[in-house]
Amino acid sequence: MVDLSVEFAGLRFRNPIFTAAGPGAKDGMTLLNAAAGGAGGLVAKTVSVSPADVPRPNMAAVLKGRVGSRRGMLNAELWSELPVEQWLEREYPIALSSGLPLIASLGYKPEEVSKIAPMLEKAGIHALEYSTHYVGGHVEIAKALREVVDIPIFAKLSPKVQVAKIAKELEPHVDGIVAINSFGPCLRIDIESGKPMLGSNGGEGWMSGSAIRPIAMKCVADIAKATDIPVIAVGGVSSGEDAIEFIMAGASAVEVCTAAILEGHTVYGRIAGEMKSWLESHGYDSIQDVKGMALKHLADAVVLSGTPKVDLNLCTRCGLCPKSCVYDAITVDKSKNLFQIDGEKCQGCGMCISVCPYHALSIGS
Ligand SMILES: Cc1cc2nc3c(=O)[nH]c(=O)nc-3n(C[C@H](O)[C@H](O)[C@H](O)COP(=O)(O)O)c2cc1C
Repeated sequence: MVDLSVEFAGLRFRNPIFTAAGPGAKDGMTLLNAAAGGAGGLVAKTVSVSPADVPRPNMAAVLKGRVGSRRGMLNAELWSELPVEQWLEREYPIALSSGLPLIASLGYKPEEVSKIAPMLEKAGIHALEYSTHYVGGHVEIAKALREVVDIPIFAKLSPKVQVAKIAKELEPHVDGIVAINSFGPCLRIDIESGKPMLGSNGGEGWMSGSAIRPIAMKCVADIAKATDIPVIAVGGVSSGEDAIEFIMAGASAVEVCTAAILEGHTVYGRIAGEMKSWLESHGYDSIQDVKGMALKHLADAVVLSGTPKVDLNLCTRCGLCPKSCVYDAITVDKSKNLFQIDGEKCQGCGMCISVCPYHALSIGS
């Protein structure tokens, strides 16, 4: 029986799939639904000294006409539109009734977080995550929080800062790092009107979802290599395999934002279930067995040369790999049950391996 539970910063979670500050954590009922949907921990929407005045529209999918949790999106949502008093009186107590550990997100300046944090601690919040979304001041905020609360503090970093350097500076002051916030600024234009799709200044928005996962993966691995404190990964998680990849890059848990917007509150349980199946099918007993597994391979270049090998039992002859082979080295004919790689034409680029949904292709030993 695979054990998905994780423990860090003195908190125990039934699985490592958490909500993230965003629409999937916008109030108490949404958080309670996320718990019912299988989340292992709850991170609430960011609160600040006054409610946000959010521009509208403030969300736009990257791809039109397609819905699915593997998509990306832009947002200009800022922090919570609900006053912190409402969170304290109503929203946090509802979320706490789930019995899951509840992490409150707060921002942004040291004097602001110092004012809010003691009230959150008093309300029974289990830990704090502070957002520095492109405003900086990481260490000053951590110090200000440490002076006023005893509960664990997590610092959430944006991808455009030097994450490993900042994480190292933060290490003595926080209990963990959350990486990453959305990436930007970015822009989408509605070609029917010629206007930006978001109602923010200049139409600017911040990208999230599958497209930013490799950026987040690099940040998480760099932080895990540079520090000994827990890293919570966030950025483009929409499947159990995505979550496993982050755990192998050194994460202790992952948060899910965009996939929950696009799929709904059952996404957390689905991802946790997929993680469990993957671990089971690969002969692992727990998250701990794979945690940080990739880090030892990140010091030097890993050269795997040669022509990919195919496992014909796994290959369904679906035809995806020849479409993405720029060297025309692969021939697939489903009607003849044929799969061939021309070793003369193949340049060992590796693209076919990454597109195969069945893990039928591999390179090296
Ligand atoms: C609509 C929206 C609102 C968000 N609001 C917040 C927020 O209030 N505080 C915060 O720290 N991050 C916020 N984020 C960032 C997410 O928590 C997360 O770091 C980012 O979207 C990457 O994860 P994802 O790819 O799973 O969405 C928001 C993201 C989105 C898409």
